[in-house]
Amino acid sequence: MVTMSRLVQFVLALIVGLAVLAWAVTGFVQETARQWFERDLNLRARLVATGARASLAAHWYADQRQQLQSQLTEITHDERVMAVAACGLDLSTLASTPDFPSEFGCREVGPQVQSADGSSNPHFQEWNAVSRLPGGSIHVSAIPLWDADRQFGFLVLLQDLSYAERREARTRTFLLVSFGILGVLASGVTIFVARFSRRNWSAELRRMLHGDERRRPEFQPILRDVRDLIERVMDEREDAPGVWTAERLKQTLSLHLHGERVVIVANREPYVHERFPGGDVQIVHPASGLVTALEPVMRACSGVWIAHGSGSADRETVDRNDHVRVPPGEESYHIRRVWLSPEEELGYYYGFSNEGLWPLCHVADTRPAFRGEDWAHYQRVNERFANAVCSEVDSDDPIVLVQDYHFALVPRLIRERLPAATVIMFWHIPWPNAERFGICPWRQELLEGLLGSSIVGFHTQFHCNNFFESVDRYLEARIDREQHGVVKRGHRTLVRPYPISLEWPVRWLAKAPSPVECREHVWRDLRLKPDALLGVGVDRLDYTKGVEERLLAVERLLERFPEFRGRFSFLQVAAPSRTKIERYRQLNDLVVQLADRINDRFGEGDYRPIILLRSHHEPPDVFRYYRAAHLCYVSSLHDGMNLVAKEFVAARDDQQGVLLLSQFTGAARELTEALIVNPYDLEEASTALATALQMPPGEQQVRMRSMRSLVAHFNVYRWAGEMLVDAAQLRSRERLTGSLADRATRNAAAK
Ligand code: F6P
Repeated sequence: MVTMSRLVQFVLALIVGLAVLAWAVTGFVQETARQWFERDLNLRARLVATGARASLAAHWYADQRQQLQSQLTEITHDERVMAVAACGLDLSTLASTPDFPSEFGCREVGPQVQSADGSSNPHFQEWNAVSRLPGGSIHVSAIPLWDADRQFGFLVLLQDLSYAERREARTRTFLLVSFGILGVLASGVTIFVARFSRRNWSAELRRMLHGDERRRPEFQPILRDVRDLIERVMDEREDAPGVWTAERLKQTLSLHLHGERVVIVANREPYVHERFPGGDVQIVHPASGLVTALEPVMRACSGVWIAHGSGSADRETVDRNDHVRVPPGEESYHIRRVWLSPEEELGYYYGFSNEGLWPLCHVADTRPAFRGEDWAHYQRVNERFANAVCSEVDSDDPIVLVQDYHFALVPRLIRERLPAATVIMFWHIPWPNAERFGICPWRQELLEGLLGSSIVGFHTQFHCNNFFESVDRYLEARIDREQHGVVKRGHRTLVRPYPISLEWPVRWLAKAPSPVECREHVWRDLRLKPDALLGVGVDRLDYTKGVEERLLAVERLLERFPEFRGRFSFLQVAAPSRTKIERYRQLNDLVVQLADRINDRFGEGDYRPIILLRSHHEPPDVFRYYRAAHLCYVSSLHDGMNLVAKEFVAARDDQQGVLLLSQFTGAARELTEALIVNPYDLEEASTALATALQMPPGEQQVRMRSMRSLVAHFNVYRWAGEMLVDAAQLRSRERLTGSLADRATRNAAAK
């Protein structure tokens, strides 16, 4: 029998022993890991130099310094290589990447590389070292360059070693936590054995196996640890290479950006509180590609979404800080609502954003209108949102994701107040060519505003190129196409394509009825004949979406292919949008007239070729239509991405249905198994409609499967993850460059 005091002594000795062991093992593992990392970086430096040797030699002997520099820049595209310099036999610098720190220049490093073999000819040998800086360490390598059996110089490579320090910190935490768990388990087992030796151990064990742990509080800590361990193992399985999930995005944030909260700035809020006739308040999910994409990201990352409070019951549902916690029932982040006066909304949203910038950026034959009073409202509202950001952040280097053309000035306003902030601006619509962009009277202010960002993202490389051209033409700034950057007054902005996507799996599918059931409901609701064929289109009623062209293509189909008359109907779900703008009201009337004309011409009895639903539909209804239809036609005249195309693909887990997609959408570059059409060409579009309606199920399946795999793989978690990883890399490079500059200043002052 074990006495209580002996038991306590034993447990204490066990804990002390484990703590000593943890300290020794952690030190050993850390030292070994550090040696591995350094050896790995030595090897990488050697491989880089060997790989580039032949072409470096060619440029070297031809004295092509420009090409030499381009090649060095190419080398820095490796995520860890920060800077490179090529040095000659006489220790002169032949070329180096921009911002190469002078303290690691050829003459400074040269003496370490020169071999002391006493020969009169210069001779170099490999040299590696680590320079520790406050922002993280740098690994420095000097690698001799050989041409056959002759040396012609050496390369100096600076590699980022801060990742190794981060991994070391994680390993240390992991080991300490593991020893902690071991300590708890060992103490628990000791107590368990001691107590069971006094009691009927088999009865205790049976009770535990039957899950009756609530009656034995002493086992709670052990069981909690075991549960945590199982959950961690399950999470790691989800985090398989290549698959991006909400969990992986969360981990990326904590690994690369220390889990900081994210602040989103977007005009549209993800949850709108509306008061309906009859008095009840309901939540509405707005029809917005931006919201569809960003909301799951916010749920994964948590933080705050700053938006215009536009719902009729929005003011009643916020707290005194204008915050409301969402999503209902989950409450993982909050919305901060910014209130706009009717004049502000008219000038900033309807005026400058949607009568100026929207038609400016879309090639859809609507003239932009630029009015001075709208611009003044736009500036003021951008300032109000920048103020809201500053009041929401809790550090001087927050991560702020600014969304879309409503807020071109916000990045610069934030940068002026929080110089260390990471500002990622994503432009959800196309960027026009420089000539067209130039018609905006405030083109310079817009570009300067955007260049306050750390990253400016577009959906396609084409729009990045247009942006570079606009900067080149209208600003004094250096364009660094190799590094995808713009440098203005010493501040660098990365400009890259990040094609946006959907969460995967889409949450609305979890409770959606099967495609067969959806078809039954929709056929009943729309009073379709059993052998009817259905096409669907889902859009905000906007002139860029090509709704008129779509209806005309249906009319042409019925003209050219009489076998579809009386059988094929096209359901157009059209959410009213920006109705205070005359052009949108005109479009509404035109679409109604067109639908009536086609229905008069080809309709008969209950049969209507065009079914027009002009009202907002909540996502579960929209997904029901997607799942029921035989085809979906996205006919945008110009569109940054178009997430309706991806939603249709996501909805079709039966691998059936055909997507017709305008060649003028960003999505057409990714969803190449869709039937790609020019929406202006009614012959081509009507032929594609007929092809879709006759496509054998086998071919539908092959196309749909391939598109689904693309959307699953390139989902919105990956979209956000890639931007955050790029931002983290920029941040660590800036910190290291800052540390180097500080050190150089201190050294200069000391001399
Ligand atoms: O998809 C382009 C886009 O402008 C989004 O950025 C925006 O959220 C959406 O259209 C809806 O527009 P609005 O917010 O003006 O209704």
